[in-house]
Order: sequence, then C-alpha cells, then structure tokens
Amino acid sequence: MGEYFGDILRRALDRRDFLKLTGASAVVFSSPFAHAKAKNKPTKSLSYKTIYPNNEDRVVVPEGYRVSIIIKWGDPLDNGEPLNWNRVYEGTTSEDVERQKKCFGYNADFVGFFKLTSNRALLVVNHEYTNPELMFKGFDLKNPNPTKEQADLMLQAHGVSVVEIRRKPDGSWEYVKGSSFNRRITGDTMCLISGPAMGHRLMKTSYDPNGLLVYGTLNNCSAGKTPWGTVLTCEENFHSYFGGDINSISDSLVKEIHQRYGVPSSRAKRYGFHRYYSRFDISQEPNEAFRFGWVVEIDPYDPTRPPVKRTALGRFKHEAATTVVANDGRVVVYMGDDERFEYIYKFVTKGKYDPINRTANFGLLDEGTLYVAKFNDDLTGEWIPIATVDGNRITPNPKLPEPFQSDPVLCFINTRGAADLLGATKMDRPEDVEWNPITKSVFVALTYNERRGASGQPGTDKANPRQLNHMGHIIEIKEQNNDPASTRFAWVMAMLCGDPRATDENRKLYIYGQPAKETTPAISAPDNFAFDKLGNVWIATDGNPSTNRLAKNDGVYTLNVYTKELKMFLSGAPGCEICGPEFSEDYKTFFCTIQHPGEDGANTKWPYLNDGVAVPRPSVIQVQRNDGKEVYL
Ligand code: FEO
Ligand code: CA
Ligand code: CA
Repeated sequence: MGEYFGDILRRALDRRDFLKLTGASAVVFSSPFAHAKAKNKPTKSLSYKTIYPNNEDRVVVPEGYRVSIIIKWGDPLDNGEPLNWNRVYEGTTSEDVERQKKCFGYNADFVGFFKLTSNRALLVVNHEYTNPELMFKGFDLKNPNPTKEQADLMLQAHGVSVVEIRRKPDGSWEYVKGSSFNRRITGDTMCLISGPAMGHRLMKTSYDPNGLLVYGTLNNCSAGKTPWGTVLTCEENFHSYFGGDINSISDSLVKEIHQRYGVPSSRAKRYGFHRYYSRFDISQEPNEAFRFGWVVEIDPYDPTRPPVKRTALGRFKHEAATTVVANDGRVVVYMGDDERFEYIYKFVTKGKYDPINRTANFGLLDEGTLYVAKFNDDLTGEWIPIATVDGNRITPNPKLPEPFQSDPVLCFINTRGAADLLGATKMDRPEDVEWNPITKSVFVALTYNERRGASGQPGTDKANPRQLNHMGHIIEIKEQNNDPASTRFAWVMAMLCGDPRATDENRKLYIYGQPAKETTPAISAPDNFAFDKLGNVWIATDGNPSTNRLAKNDGVYTLNVYTKELKMFLSGAPGCEICGPEFSEDYKTFFCTIQHPGEDGANTKWPYLNDGVAVPRPSVIQVQRNDGKEVYL
C-alpha cells in the first residue's frame, strides 16, 4: 500500500500537465506538497517529546507543558450560581432549566479565539449535543424517556456560548463571569434566515408563516472564523432531534428530501424534543427540519445581533466552515458534510472582502457560487458548480434536471440531492476542510468509513482507497495557481491513519505515501485541524476509543509539514473526543475541548474537581509551556 501511494505521488510529481495545472514551475513545485524542500525551512519546531495513546483517566500533555480547565458545562456566564449538577442528575427541576439558560452548555466542540486587547479575548464555543445517559441518573439509552424538565434543560444546553477570558499573571486564562460580552445562544434562540432559501415555501411553518426566522441552532459541531470577525457555526446532525412519522407526509418532495437527510431519526427519543415541542414532530410540522442543517453566522462582538442562517452555503450535515480570502478579494468557504459517502463543498462569494468597513461584509455570504468536489484518480480534481446566487437570480447547474431548474432554491435546501446528480465524489465522512495559510493548501479530514463496497454503496477510489477504512485519512489539496477560488485542483494522500506497527495494511500508518517509523504514535479518526505560525498541522481526533480503532483515548497530534514527523501532543479523558483546536493570537496558549468524557460506558468522572459533583463535565482546556514561550517551538 505504501509503495502504491508512493508510486502515484511520484507519477503525479513527474507529470507536466500537473505542473501546468498547479501553475507551478518545476522548481517552485518542490514546495507545494513536499514542504520539506521549501526554502527557509524552520530548523526547530514541535521539539516536544511525543506522548503515546493511552487509557489514563486524566488529560496528558508532554513534559514542559501544563494544562488546566478554563470553563466547563454548567459554569455561570452571569453573576449567578453555577448549575446544580447533582440536582440535575437526581431530578432536574424547572429552576435548573432557568440556570442552564445562563450557564455554559454541554459537549463543547469548536473553540474560536477573538482578541479584545493583549490580555483579554472572547472565546466562542459550540455545544454540539447532550448525553442524557451521563447527565441524568438512571437514564436508559435503550429505552429513553426524558422528562419535560430534562428535555428543556438539554435544549438549553445546546447551541453556542460567547465568553470573555482574561490572562492571569502566570500566563494562563480565566473566564470572566458577568462580562457584557457573555452570551448563550441555545436551541430556542431566535435566528434569522438569509440568502436564497429565505421565504421559500419549504421554509414556512405555523409559527413562521413567512419563512424568515427560526428558533434555535442545533448540533453545532465545528465552525470557522471570518476575516471580518464573525463565527460560522455549523449545524451537523440536525436530523437527530426530529421525530414523527415520515408516512404522515403527503408532499412527495418533502418526504424525499427528508429521507435523503435521515429525517426523522431514531435518536430523537433520547432528547424528547418532538414529544414536548410540536415543531420537532414532522407529522405536525413537516417543514421545521428544513430550517436546520445550515451554516449560522454569529457576531461575537455584538450580543444584540441575532444569529443568521446563511442558506447560500447549502444545507447538509455541516462539520465546519473555514474561510480564506482569494487572490482577487472574494471570500472562499470550505465545508464538509459529515456522513459516510457524503461530499466536500466550497462557496465562493460574488462580492469582495472589505477590510476597512466591517459591516459591509455582513451580507457577503448571501451571494456567490456553491461548488461540490470531484476527485479524479489521476490526482487532479474539480469543483463542480451547483448553483449561483446573484441578487434575486439563482442559476442552477444546467445539468441538473427538474425540479432544480424550475425551483432552483432546491439546490440549497436539498444540496445533497443536487450533488448526487453532478458526479461529485462520495467521501469517507468529510470532517474539517481547512486552508493552511502557510502552505497555501487545503487539508481535508476524512474520519472513517467501514462500509465501502457494501451493498448499494460505492467501492474504493484513489481518494478513498480503503474498503474497511476504520482509521480515516487526510488529503491535501493544492488549488490551481494557489487560488482558493479556482475550479481545478491537485491532491495528494497526506496520511492514511493507523498504527505503524499494525500488520493489517488497512490499519497501518502511512504519511505522504511512506510507512511511518515504528516509534510514531498511532492515530485514527482525524476530525479537526488548527495550524500554528509555521503551518504545522494540529489534528484533533474523534474515534480512537473504539475497539475498531485504537481502543485508546482520543488526542491531539502534530504533523510537521517540513519533516513529515507525526507526534502526539495531548490525550484526553476516557470516552471523550477532542475538539476545537485553537491558538491564542500570540500562540502561547493552545485551546481544545474535552467533549463527552464518559461516553459509551467509559468509566470516568473527569475532571475530578473535589467539589462533590457526581457526573463528568465536558470542558474547554488550555495548554501552555512552563517557560511561557509559544507552544509550537
Ligand atoms: Fe461532530 Fe463531524 O463531528
Ligand atoms: Ca467534529
Ligand atoms: Ca466527529
């Protein structure tokens, strides 16, 4: 397998048309994928001593680093009391629901750092979902039956938190209770609908007959930061909250689209929203589910500005939305649809980024072109247009059949259905898709997919080469002319995840086509990226604990893009995934989250704060070097 990819890579590196495609001369081309040959190669970075995957009931960081919690589920954002975790556990009350509205939510995912001054900043944190089996005593996932108070509390524990942090004299950060910036956006906060789907017939419900607003944002997984200082938070597994009977829906189009997105879901029972709020029951409110599955723009600096669902970015199970300004000033948003055999997308704005007038950018994401990616086996690829929004005019790809031509808004509401018809490549669960500003390339996390070649499913291709892809992989994309707005690209397999000591080829670790050294830590299920000041890739994982993968705690790894060395920087608590890799602006702090410690029966009450609390608590943590220098040195 290693030689196989090595051969492909060598062939690609030799191809004249490939060089033409990337717009690179043979000399310059030594840098795009082979960063090691770049000039000014850093002689020293990521010098820490690697840790290894483990099952310790604590967060582990390398020697010379320290780790602490900044904020955890239930900490108050106002000046009030924290959530009464033990009472929530024993028998949730309406008073607890009221406190949760003002307290940090559950299952922290994305973390975004927004500078205020040199020692003050805002953290924007997503709360992806809730684990009732960990929050509530005796809750049985096999026979879920949440009370109204439990459902209410879970709805309020979803969404997003904006919280101010300040730096202490020792260099670590603490959150500021009662800051005027602090804000909770929950599963019932009013959000505006903007872009092409605004006012469409499928966006209308009994409580919003005009299709202009919706209560709440849900399953906010990862996100991205825009150059104008807003957050693009992503609604991922939104289907999980919708119950009811699909056969009660008479409109065949509504039914078809819901089925393509897995609505309704058997998971709805664990939240119970459909039992207590009619809008989550598709039999009563068939269109409410169309108002989720979007990218939502939030202004962390203005708590009065409502979140806006930007429908031009398409509707799917959005993992993240990361932006970069193209060579001509247009803004490009990269996005993954996280489900097996789904697609990678990007959106290119019509207008240009205005670095002077911040608010001039607030409508930028409502007009432009939505593309889906096709990966060719010759290591090239193309971005296929789905539809373009220009003012009130929507132009669908002419290859799309009806009803996309007569009702082109469907390209945005049923984005998956449109992409199915355009020959896009079905990927192994696309997670983060991020532009690395130093290497000027795009890193794509494909977390895993063990169903390739199963009945009715596509087989392997060069971009998804493992039939039993338990471990996941990472692709690096080079856009033509290094321009993120290009419609053609070249790609390479940056990492086939696994264990360097595995004997099964499907589980062996390869880095840029080469088998990893035996001393390299095993890695699986890559999920989210951050890039340090030198362009090194920091990778957070979501899936190591599975016995199908490493049966070890999830972690944060670093890939040195110059030496191609992979190390493990951090490991989390049992049962958790690690999310939100992020740096402070000065790179002296690394932030991430410990999401759902104790999930899937893992035995932990992390973080063990000796405060008598009986349940594990998802948290945002910070890591600094003991000597106070930049963490990547
Ligand atoms: Fe919520 Fe795709 O991870
Ligand atoms: Ca994720
Ligand atoms: Ca994930």
